[in-house]
Amino acid sequence: MKIIFLGAPGAGKGTQSDIVSERLGIPTVSTGAIIREAIKNGTDMGKKARSYTESGALVPDEVVIGIIRERLAADDCRGGFILDGFPRTVAQAEALDRMGVAPDVVVSIEVSDERIIARMSGRRVCGTCGASYHTLYNPSADGVTCDRCGGAPLTTRRDGDPEVVKSRLDVYHTSTEPLKEFYAAKGVLKLVEGQEKVEDTTALTLAALGVR
Ligand code: AP5
Repeated sequence: MKIIFLGAPGAGKGTQSDIVSERLGIPTVSTGAIIREAIKNGTDMGKKARSYTESGALVPDEVVIGIIRERLAADDCRGGFILDGFPRTVAQAEALDRMGVAPDVVVSIEVSDERIIARMSGRRVCGTCGASYHTLYNPSADGVTCDRCGGAPLTTRRDGDPEVVKSRLDVYHTSTEPLKEFYAAKGVLKLVEGQEKVEDTTALTLAALGVR
């Protein structure tokens, strides 16, 4: 199955992608995670991307399209995959079409801007494996280290500052939200109302995907 998760920053795309990936046994391809890894490793692409991500802007289309083209050619994507954070512009969606990738389902997780801003302040991420937690809604077992990769310390993300979150929301409404219309016209869009509890959103997401 080929799945795309759409949604505002902090809507819970990464959280749901990880759960669905485990459930269906297909990889999650997150452009945000690939870019953060490149920044951490100081690669040329990471150096180019850094100023965009830190200010809340989108990394240029040609850079992320190149990342996706290369990643989707890997063997583990043959049986399906989840795209988390790509496409984010109509130009990226059109590039995906040109690669011959037609998603079976596009899930848009709907959460209001007010709730996003409140949520982002509690987000904690694992610096080693990238797992995402929330101090109130989705805490790790001890609140300070990662459950998934065995005890790495949790940190905050630099693009979670309130001012940066507001500008990422503006970018989302202007550049990414039009993709809902793009995929509705193809008959593959499903809207999922983001719930206060992660497991409630998961139940709605699995139903939208037709997974029992
Ligand atoms: P990216 O990492 O993709 O950021 P994002 O889309 O803005 O999404 P986030 O990771 O911030 O949030 P999320 O929706 O995954 O939510 P999460 O599950 O973490 O991209 C980062 C940057 O890279 C971009 O700003 C851009 O610069 C660049 N980039 C990436 N892709 C690009 C592209 N295609 N083109 C151009 N540039 C690109 O959840 C958030 C928090 O809420 C967590 O703490 C979580 O525990 C909590 N939570 C989740 N679900 C719930 C729930 N149901 N109830 C309560 N809390 C919840």
